[in-house]
Amino acid sequence: MAKKLRIGVVGLGIGRHHIKGYREHESADVVAICDIDQDRLNAAGKESGISKKYRDIEKMLAKEKLDVVSICTPNVSHAPLTIQALEAGCHVLCEKPMAMNTEEAELMCRKAGEKKRRLMIDFSFRFSPMSQALKAQVDSGILGEIYFARTVWHRRAGVPGRDWFHEKAMSGGGPLIDLGVHRIDLALWLMGYPEPKTVLGSSYDYLARPMARQQGKYYDCEDMATGFVQFANGQSMAIEASWMAMRPENEFMVTRLYGTKGGLVQRNLDATYNFEAMLFTSEGDFCFEKKLAVAQKPVPSAMAHFIDCIIKDIPHDADGSQGVKVMKILDGIYRSAETGKAVEFK
Ligand SMILES: NC(=O)c1ccc[n+]([C@@H]2O[C@H](COP(=O)([O-])OP(=O)(O)OC[C@H]3O[C@@H](n4cnc5c(N)ncnc54)[C@H](O)[C@@H]3O)[C@@H](O)[C@H]2O)c1
Repeated sequence: MAKKLRIGVVGLGIGRHHIKGYREHESADVVAICDIDQDRLNAAGKESGISKKYRDIEKMLAKEKLDVVSICTPNVSHAPLTIQALEAGCHVLCEKPMAMNTEEAELMCRKAGEKKRRLMIDFSFRFSPMSQALKAQVDSGILGEIYFARTVWHRRAGVPGRDWFHEKAMSGGGPLIDLGVHRIDLALWLMGYPEPKTVLGSSYDYLARPMARQQGKYYDCEDMATGFVQFANGQSMAIEASWMAMRPENEFMVTRLYGTKGGLVQRNLDATYNFEAMLFTSEGDFCFEKKLAVAQKPVPSAMAHFIDCIIKDIPHDADGSQGVKVMKILDGIYRSAETGKAVEFK
């Protein structure tokens, strides 16, 4: 068996899920965990049985000779901690959103290139049997040329409980950067990751800000954002994301693709993230609707995928350059919402 890779996980909220994800792979050994919050560190140590616990990433990097680090902290620290881990010679799996803005995201990619280390972004919605089956269908050409996508995540009332999520200086934004990021990645991935050219966006805070004020909480993000993207190859995409909106379902996710030979919809059925997918095609005068039946064969987690690709020395999915394209769209929508003008990328 190949040597086991030594892994450290930083930030122990969703980071606890990373520990489990790595443990799917026989060549992964999560040897150390890190969190500035001692209670979380102790709880995660107890839960996982990992005894090497750090409150400072610098000390962990200096002592543990790690091969791979997961960055699972609030968005504001994704870029600095990723760069610190890359500098220390580690491959990095960074949580979404990749960074606070495009400049930071590009810097992370440059550093990974300079250090010849890998950088993956945890676009976790790809790593499900249904998403993988959809990708296989789309790549087989069933939709023909895809020209338009609509990708959406709305909540009736779902502002995250942790305060940093709605403090722009910590998060970079609200539901767009938190939820929209997943739906944008899913659509872009199915579309073949085209290059964004023009972005137009709007954002609103009519519902969540007054509610936060009533509760004595700080809130300076949008509660809904909408965007429209034109890509260099002529494809286009509409985006909607909200934490609060006057609508029936508390969680509503949908991604639709329109192609020259067929269409596709993937949507959630309930708040537990069960999804269904349908394909629409036509032959002669007949229209067909096919429900995608996905074999419930498990697919590797993002973490197991990353380890597998490192061990086998093959390219991994969701690399930093794709993260940069997502960041351009997020940034573009926020900048356009502020100025009322479209943002053009060279
Ligand atoms: N891919 C997904 O599906 C998914 C799901 C949830 C969260 N996320 C992302 O993961 C990140 C964390 O989200 P969360 O829900 O776990 O947040 P959280 O607030 O629950 O956890 C973050 C943890 O990071 C720790 N931390 C903060 N700064 C640190 C530092 N400098 N060094 C070490 N630890 C530090 C905090 O003490 C906290 O325990 C966010 O970027 C979020 O967008 C992704």
